[in-house]
Amino acid sequence: MRDAQAKTIYLKDYQLPAFVIELTELHFELGETATHVRSRLHLRRNPELLGNQQDALRLDGQDMQLVWLKLNDQTLTEQNYSTDEESLTVFGLSALLGEAIDTGFVLECETLIKPQENTSLEGLYKSQKMFCTQCEAEGFRKITYYIDRPDVMAKFVTTIVADKERYPVLLSNGNNIASGDLSDGRHWATWEDPFRKPCYLFALVAGELRFIEDHFVTCSGRDITLRIFVEDKDLDKCDHAMLSLKNAMRWDEEVYGREYDLDIFMIVAVDDFNMGAMENKGLNIFNTSCVLANPATTTDMAFQRVEAVVAHEYFHNWSGNRVTCRDWFQLSLKEGFTVYRDAEFSADMGSRTVKRVEDVSFLRTQQFAEDAGPMAHPVRPDSFMEISNFYTLTIYEKGAEVVRMIRELIGPENFRKGSDLYFERHDGQAVTTEDFVLAMEEASGTDLTQFRRWYTQAGTPQLHITGHYDADAQTYELLVRQSCPPTPEQSFKEPFHIPLRMGLLDADGYDMPLGLEGEKRGSPTLGERVLDVTKPIQKFVFTGVTSKPVPSLLRGFSAPVKLHFDYTRDELLFVMTRDSDGFNRWNAAQEMAINVIHELLEQHQQGLPLMVDEGLVRAFADVLQSAIDDARGAQVLDQAMLAQLLVLPSEAYLSELAAQIDVDGIHHVREFIANQLALSHVNAFAQLYTLCQSSNLYKADAAGIAKRALKNVCLSYLMRQPEADWLETCYQQYLAAENMTDVDAALRFLVNSRYPKAAVLRSQALADFYARWKHESLVVNQWFTVQAIASRPGTLQHVKTLMHHEAFDMRNPNKVRSLISAFCNTNAINFHHVSGDAYEFLADQVIALNLTNPQIASRLLTPLTRWKKFGPARQVLMKAQLERIAAQPELSKDVFEVVSKSLR
Ligand code: TRP
Ligand code: ZN
Repeated sequence: MRDAQAKTIYLKDYQLPAFVIELTELHFELGETATHVRSRLHLRRNPELLGNQQDALRLDGQDMQLVWLKLNDQTLTEQNYSTDEESLTVFGLSALLGEAIDTGFVLECETLIKPQENTSLEGLYKSQKMFCTQCEAEGFRKITYYIDRPDVMAKFVTTIVADKERYPVLLSNGNNIASGDLSDGRHWATWEDPFRKPCYLFALVAGELRFIEDHFVTCSGRDITLRIFVEDKDLDKCDHAMLSLKNAMRWDEEVYGREYDLDIFMIVAVDDFNMGAMENKGLNIFNTSCVLANPATTTDMAFQRVEAVVAHEYFHNWSGNRVTCRDWFQLSLKEGFTVYRDAEFSADMGSRTVKRVEDVSFLRTQQFAEDAGPMAHPVRPDSFMEISNFYTLTIYEKGAEVVRMIRELIGPENFRKGSDLYFERHDGQAVTTEDFVLAMEEASGTDLTQFRRWYTQAGTPQLHITGHYDADAQTYELLVRQSCPPTPEQSFKEPFHIPLRMGLLDADGYDMPLGLEGEKRGSPTLGERVLDVTKPIQKFVFTGVTSKPVPSLLRGFSAPVKLHFDYTRDELLFVMTRDSDGFNRWNAAQEMAINVIHELLEQHQQGLPLMVDEGLVRAFADVLQSAIDDARGAQVLDQAMLAQLLVLPSEAYLSELAAQIDVDGIHHVREFIANQLALSHVNAFAQLYTLCQSSNLYKADAAGIAKRALKNVCLSYLMRQPEADWLETCYQQYLAAENMTDVDAALRFLVNSRYPKAAVLRSQALADFYARWKHESLVVNQWFTVQAIASRPGTLQHVKTLMHHEAFDMRNPNKVRSLISAFCNTNAINFHHVSGDAYEFLADQVIALNLTNPQIASRLLTPLTRWKKFGPARQVLMKAQLERIAAQPELSKDVFEVVSKSLR
């Protein structure tokens, strides 16, 4: 446990490294109690640092024991160096080395580490019987003393020695250049990575692994070996990841002109992993949950996640590895850009509009909440205490939106030119978000000066727009006002440069020509355009508008902002059915539902009886009718969109929208509306449920996924019906389905059902499910989640009981996420119970994990940090738990930063 005298690190303090490392030679002897690491660092003083007189070399290092240290083969004593909890410093180097300090010297050391005791899953650790590493962001310093920062890039040569029977497979980055057996039952392998890289991209794996192999021929005709390594029992779950990898490799060549560089690309799946996956050069390490997939064990959602994460990590080979970050403040340089790239890839592989709808829902629910909370920070932060806390939705998701906006502003051709320039100019370098923007600016000739505020200002901007039609002048005026609420440390915000993609719909729903006042007559008028919103208040006057239009604003969600425009419900219905932009059709449906929910929430708060608006009921009827027509005509692709249209805004999104969250009110009203819709449309749901049955063999393709989504949405409404018939139908689906998507959906509805008759079927299904899948760890996770998110009373007690279940393991992050995080993040009604019991429960878990896995502890804490959004009673209870955590004697930096910022 490191001492948590957390100090803040500032971007403004950035300095070039005083020393550079040309070559890093590593030698690992992996043992059952300890591992010996020898390193030979080929160093010299950084010639790029002007007037560099640095005489002391400081290396980062944590949780290790130094055995010996040599400088150019001379053993050093503690007269020449000192160590503390976090570093080793060699001093008096010029005297020891003379000129060699600038021409080159070798620092060699041996350290002893204990991977078996490393529960933080950072550095070298054991996942089940396998050795593996996770070095991003600052885990390499737990392996050996090093200059652990991304702008120090070296070639790596790594030798691994281990028992041959226990660890037949020995892997590291690059190419396997030699291997052999030792006489004592051990064997060894040497790997060389020819590309200079920062140490956060280093990886090592040793274990009893099997692999599937495939090949990819690149655009220049090179043959690349592709291997996915897993435990023997998981060999039948690798095909989807392999296919996704090949698709991603082809896509990056076609869309970005990026070819793979090494001769081999490897993926290893591990059970115990803090995040989704890691892009280590040539040797990606994955959480099993992001690589394994087969129809019997894996839901459609998980299939899509595997495809996205495999692509994401692969794309990092260029956006992250070949061109890397200068410092961790630049994290979004690689993460935002790579999320943007993987989102576009997924859009091309499946349904583009649905992918956008899913991503925007996620962003608006989760990232907007982060941007409004105590941990709000810019896409390029100015400071942090613990970098692990900054792998956030803002860095990833908002960062991707910022890249998307650049493309909106400069257009697709210029965007490709800009990315080509960026990759060519900075290949092999560690750079900044500024370098990225400069390349885009230069390639397009567009001034992005004001746009840069998206990188430096936190918070979600708001757009208040009003429209005015002048029939005599035939003009339509849009008045756009922008503002941004204050965030911690930034009380005042300068106006943003916001790309507002829009159109004006005529009475038949067609896009009207868009000529702006002041533009040359005869200039081409388009049916859609991107307005540059740059001022606090800005007027756009469209001319030649022959009838009163309905504006379609922020098409495709062209900027991550909150848009306010006072539509009537009829106008929303019009946009919902007529707009040429699929995203805005869905968004109008959401807006209408939100409208109705807000109205009912007021009635509920005043104790009035609730009545659902007829307009919403009719809108649902229309959607259902078109879904039925569609299913009969087998226009399968639209089904994914139709399924989305039938889902009411989530409680989490409604909470994000609220100034103060009425937990019970939101739950009650949303449930009421859903029940009413189910009641009004029972026949249509039943008909559609039947029409969406499929006898085709399962395929995780867009059409199949869409059909199952629509079918299960129907079942969710049918299960709100008191008739036992539907319970039985649901139970039959649970028993008969041959794919996990349908099994999981049915199980969820059974577990969530409030009807007394459901109790027996529920416990039968749960017992059966566990018996059937107890040997599949990832499936057992779903079993935990299904139970954790049940809105029935008593769920907290049940979650506590499940923590003692044989399959639960607090050291495995996937287990923690599937049970504890699922409960705290997606079960508002139970988590926020006024007793405060669940707050205390969460704090207990954070306190326990703080000692073993600080990264997971600090992430788990998130729901408590939002305490200011609740009413006084809950605020007091939540704050008390934060204070209890803050008072713990040995707080990790990770948890300390989050609690202290939440309480300030
Ligand atoms: N670079 C990884 C990704 O986004 C993120 C990551 C994986 C990570 N493991 C981590 C970040 C551990 C922090 C800690 O693809
Ligand atoms: Zn990433």
